[in-house]
Amino acid sequence: MYSNPFFAVINHQPACRPPVWMMRQAGRVLPRYRQLTKMLPFRTIMSYANLAAEVTLMPIDDMGMDAAILFSDILVIPEALGVKVEWTNEGPAFPHPLMDVEHPAAELSFSPSHLNHVADTLDEIMGQKRADTPVIGFCGGPLTCLCYMLGGRDKTMQFTDVVRYLYTHREESLQLLDAITSASETYVHLQAAHGIDTFQIFESFAGVISAELYQDMIMPFVRRITAAVRQHGLPIIFFPKGFGAGLQMLTPEDCDFVSIDWQTPLLVARHLVNPAIGIQGNMDPRILFAPQAVIEQHLQQYLAFFREHPNYIFNLGHGVHKDTPLENVQFVTEWFRQAQK
Ligand code: CP3
Repeated sequence: MYSNPFFAVINHQPACRPPVWMMRQAGRVLPRYRQLTKMLPFRTIMSYANLAAEVTLMPIDDMGMDAAILFSDILVIPEALGVKVEWTNEGPAFPHPLMDVEHPAAELSFSPSHLNHVADTLDEIMGQKRADTPVIGFCGGPLTCLCYMLGGRDKTMQFTDVVRYLYTHREESLQLLDAITSASETYVHLQAAHGIDTFQIFESFAGVISAELYQDMIMPFVRRITAAVRQHGLPIIFFPKGFGAGLQMLTPEDCDFVSIDWQTPLLVARHLVNPAIGIQGNMDPRILFAPQAVIEQHLQQYLAFFREHPNYIFNLGHGVHKDTPLENVQFVTEWFRQAQK
């Protein structure tokens, strides 16, 4: 019997209540983190192992989460491949998007040493955390990394030029996806060697292309990342945001759990997704701005879902917003703890 419900559910064992964690819980909303960013920029905090470990573990103590997620970013892989990322207050910026280059794949060269700080951070986390705190490692999905690398920041989040590129420059796109995936495999092995318990793939822009194109062109690369995780016997969570009916194409070889976005009704998702795959998600992060009585109505539905379908992890349908009231996040974790009694 596992004392931590996340460990239980991710390993397909019974738990008294749904485990709770939230995407983007490390950093962003935490007052102790916001204090830290007044002194140091995000990228600096991320590269100092002691600071990054501290921020990773803050959501356990300050928010009552059942699992910690490594404090890092999906864009460390593009950076390690040699793509310049500028970390501005408005988010990451890309002074030289690869779309402007004739043969972008020829520009890339992977420096694994750029990832050393993540190994140090994980060592620090393992030294500080309680034994029953699960640690989730992650990387960006191949398409999400490719969108940023080719297109740079796109305020519309549609990446229309990148999607056109996929159709007009298929071979070049496949070479880029191969480079991203090889680096991500190395990154998986590094995180596994340094003690993570679970791995999540954040494919935040799955919805910018059709599910058929995703299945045809991107899924083979996702499967390579999954296979790397499986070599270490670790469970895998896949978050293909905006995948819609594509969810029914996923097989148990692709992932152990699928994280559902807030656009997709959870019961519809359960119906679409192979029964051997567990479900994570999918409360709209903006519900956390509502009065607690409203939040509670939603939590009731998630608890009822868990009782019906126990292979379920509570999470949001996308990352928690920066200005979310901390007390409402704490209300959620406390509510599920009470539900167990
Ligand atoms: O989940 C966690 O809290 C762990 C750490 C984490 C960060 N980024 C920290 C971060 C994770 C898992 C990510 C993933 C990530 N990064 C995604 C996929 C998830 C999603 O939200 O769709 C994407 C698309 C990125 C790219 C990225 N990094 C953006 C767009 C930004 C700018 C604004 C923002 O916060 O979204 C970042 C910077 C970033 N990544 C910060 C943090 C804590 C800095 C923001 C701050 O200091 O508040």
